[in-house]
Amino acid sequence: MLPITALAHPNIAFIKYWGNKNEGLRLPSNGSISMNLDGLETRTTVQFEDSLSADEVTINGKLSHGDELQRVSKFLEEVRKLAGIRQFAWVKSENSFPTGAGIASSASAFAALALAATRAAGLEISPDGEAAVHHEPPFDQAALSCLARRGSGSACRSIPGGFVEWAAGTNDRDSFASSIAPPDHWDLVDCIALVSTDQKSTGSSEGHALAGTSLIQASRVEDAPRRLDICRCAILERNFTSLAEIIEEDSNLMHAVMMSSHPPLFYWQPATLAVIMFVREARAQGLQVCYTIDAGPNVHVICTAAAEVETSRLLAGISGVQEIRSAKVGGAARLVENPSTPKD
Ligand code: DP6
Repeated sequence: MLPITALAHPNIAFIKYWGNKNEGLRLPSNGSISMNLDGLETRTTVQFEDSLSADEVTINGKLSHGDELQRVSKFLEEVRKLAGIRQFAWVKSENSFPTGAGIASSASAFAALALAATRAAGLEISPDGEAAVHHEPPFDQAALSCLARRGSGSACRSIPGGFVEWAAGTNDRDSFASSIAPPDHWDLVDCIALVSTDQKSTGSSEGHALAGTSLIQASRVEDAPRRLDICRCAILERNFTSLAEIIEEDSNLMHAVMMSSHPPLFYWQPATLAVIMFVREARAQGLQVCYTIDAGPNVHVICTAAAEVETSRLLAGISGVQEIRSAKVGGAARLVENPSTPKD
C-alpha cells in the first residue's frame, strides 16, 4: 500500500476540555472552543505493509516503545478495524516545534495521524461514519474529527481549520469538532510566553481522570454552555473585550479544578502568575491582550495582530520569561505531497 503524508496544526483552547464523561471513548464532560496555530505543525507519514509483524513508529527521529507506541498502535487498530485490513504500519512523525515548547503536540499528532492513516488504509469515511474503501476525497471531516478524538481529545479540534468548536455530544459518532470561522476571519496571535521547558509531571490524560474529584468540576461543567455561547459570539463579532474576559474566566476555572482535585495538580510557576498579572494590567491600560493556560506553566497570551509587537516586547521583559513564540490562526489538517516513505 502507498505511503501517505498529512499535516496538522496544534490548537490553543479558549474554552477548555477538562474531564471526560466516557474515558474510553474520550467523550468530554463539556464542549470546547479553540484556535489552530499556524506555523507550527506535525507531519506524519503512514504506510501499511504486509511484511511487518508489528507497528513501527518513529517520532521526531526516535523509535517509539512502551506507552507511547501502545497509544499509537491502539489508534491504528481502530483504523484497521474500520478499513477491514490486518497489515501493520510504518509511522514517521515530525513536529516543527520542539518538545517542551509550551505547545501540546498530541492534538496535531493524532489529527495528522488520523488523516494519514485513514488514507493510507485506502479508507474514506462516509458522513454516517461507516467505512467505505477506495473512495476519492473530499473525506468527511466530522467522521475524521471523531476518529482523531479517540487518539487525543483535543486532536478532534485540529481537523477543521481556523476557529473551531467541539460539541461534547453523547456518543462516539456525535462528538466532533467543526469550524466556527476560517483563519482569515480575525487576525489574532498567540504569543506563547515560555517560563519552563521541563516535561510536565502529570499528563493531560491522567489529569482528565482526576477532574471529577474536584468540588468545582460539576459547576464548571454545568456553566459551560454559557461560556461557549459568549466565546462563540465574541469570535463571530470580533469582540476582543468579551473574548478576553471569557477565556480568562474559563482558564481560571480549569486551573481551580486542577488545584482542588485529589491529588491536587499545580501547573503554575511563579513566573506564570507574573505573566497573568502583567497581562491584566496591560489590558487595563488599553492593550488588546488576554491570557489562557493549558496543563503546564507556559502562558498563551492572545492578542490582536496590531498589539503583537508591543505584547512580545513587554513579555520579554518579565523576569522568568525565557522566550516568546508567536503563532497566527492556522488552517485545517491536510494531505501533503511527500515522495519519501516512512522508512527513509
Ligand atoms: C488543558 O487532549 O491533551 O489542553 O484526550 O487525554 O489526550 P487527552 O487530553 P488532551 O487534553 C487537553 C487539555 C487542555 C485543554 C484543551 O486543550 O482543551
